[in-house]
Amino acid sequence: MTSRTCLSIILAAGEGTRMKSAMPKVLHKIAGLAMVAHVATTAEAAGAGDIALVVGHGGDEVKKAAEGFAPKAEVFEQKARLGTAHAVLAARHAIERGYDDLLVMFGDTPLIEAESLAAARAKLAEGAAVVVIGFRPPNPAGYGRLIEKDGRLVAIREDKDCSDDERKIGFCNAGLMAVSGSQALKLLDQVGNANAKGEFYLTDIVELADRAGLKVVATEAAFESVLGINNRAELAEAEAIWQKRRRRQAMLDGATLIAPETVYFSHDTEIGTDVLVEPNVWFGPGVKVAASATIHAFSHLEGTKVGPRAEVGPFARLRPGADLHEKAKVGNFCEVKKATIEKGAKVNHLTYIGDARVGAGANIGAGTITCNYDGYSKFFTDIGEGAFIGSNSSLVAPIAIGAGAYVASGSVITDEVPADSLAFGRARQKTLPGKGKQLRERFADAAAAKKKSAAE
Ligand code: UD1
Ligand code: MG
Repeated sequence: MTSRTCLSIILAAGEGTRMKSAMPKVLHKIAGLAMVAHVATTAEAAGAGDIALVVGHGGDEVKKAAEGFAPKAEVFEQKARLGTAHAVLAARHAIERGYDDLLVMFGDTPLIEAESLAAARAKLAEGAAVVVIGFRPPNPAGYGRLIEKDGRLVAIREDKDCSDDERKIGFCNAGLMAVSGSQALKLLDQVGNANAKGEFYLTDIVELADRAGLKVVATEAAFESVLGINNRAELAEAEAIWQKRRRRQAMLDGATLIAPETVYFSHDTEIGTDVLVEPNVWFGPGVKVAASATIHAFSHLEGTKVGPRAEVGPFARLRPGADLHEKAKVGNFCEVKKATIEKGAKVNHLTYIGDARVGAGANIGAGTITCNYDGYSKFFTDIGEGAFIGSNSSLVAPIAIGAGAYVASGSVITDEVPADSLAFGRARQKTLPGKGKQLRERFADAAAAKKKSAAE
């Protein structure tokens, strides 16, 4: 890692009207994290110690969100949207502090990889004043073209300003640049707006630097990495690319994904080695899966810890605060919220466990419900180690079931059950021999009489 100081300037003043959203474009999410947060995280991974976020007029929402994903970021407002160079200069005060490297990034280009940024910074370290990250899109229309002469990058021409010959160039500007901190303001202050759009183009610093005899180079990134997002269809494309990368990484890190294309990760999912993930699993934010756990098909997890060798699903829903210890099991059609399922405990079928502790080795029968809510407040259920809860029981919280206690099936439990005791919370069965047959005869006669009187 280089010891050079680096400021990342993230441009996020875009209007984003094509998202057709009340929310600023850069706050739309990929893998549960705002696009601009992906950009900030990647900048940090590439060694940017400081972040300047340039927001547009009324960028309060973006500013507020930044407190979460990049609390140290300085936020600057670009009051009028006069072009990318103008936007970078909104962060003048930060640039003036003096950095070795500046990384200019776009808040709507979330898939850029830290390696590409690090490669651009390496060129600065070798003496370049401006490094342009280029790419070769399938259709270059709309992008700035990289104009090379005698092996030098001499200019970037915006699509609207290109000659017919220049328009044929396939090597385009991704928009992201690394600029020498000592040259940046000199170059940016010379940028004018005599072009087709009447904007102050950041791209003009290429020509300005070349003319001043400074070194300008281009690096190349994959098309996928520099995809700019302008509408929700492109957002979904970016999500797909992100998921594909993440699934691959999970597998390379030692998890087995039987049908990787059906598994969805969150930006912060942690998954251990020898974890098996069956098809159609959704990981929402805040999930950690320890080694050798199994997530069976069609399970939905968020804010959850799954311990080593634990088993989840099929068709399980683990909500925030679910904490499954080693070898715990939560089976089909079970929901667990804010509850600890201790070592080896089993919650196997059709059950809701919320605001609870299920002690080690306890067995929760099918259809058990912790009645944790009275419409106003939530209450806790404590189930001791090795307890057995018979099927179809309702545990009305607040309630404690002691270790080793046994609750009979179909019970409604409202009072504490001490350790090792047996609790029946239901009416006793009464059986009357022969009475079933008599009852049927009575009903049959009544029905026949009714039919007969209707026919008369
Ligand atoms: C820009 C590049 C172009 C490149 C393309 C890649 C310039 C002049 N052109 O063009 O060479 O091929 O990206 O997608 O840089 N922004 C502001 N304030 C402004 C203007 C823009 O913050 O005043 C931000 C936008 O929110 C966006 C980014 O800068 O994140 C790029 O602006 P945009 O208008 O999309 O530039 P393009 O015309 O796409
Ligand atoms: Mg654009």
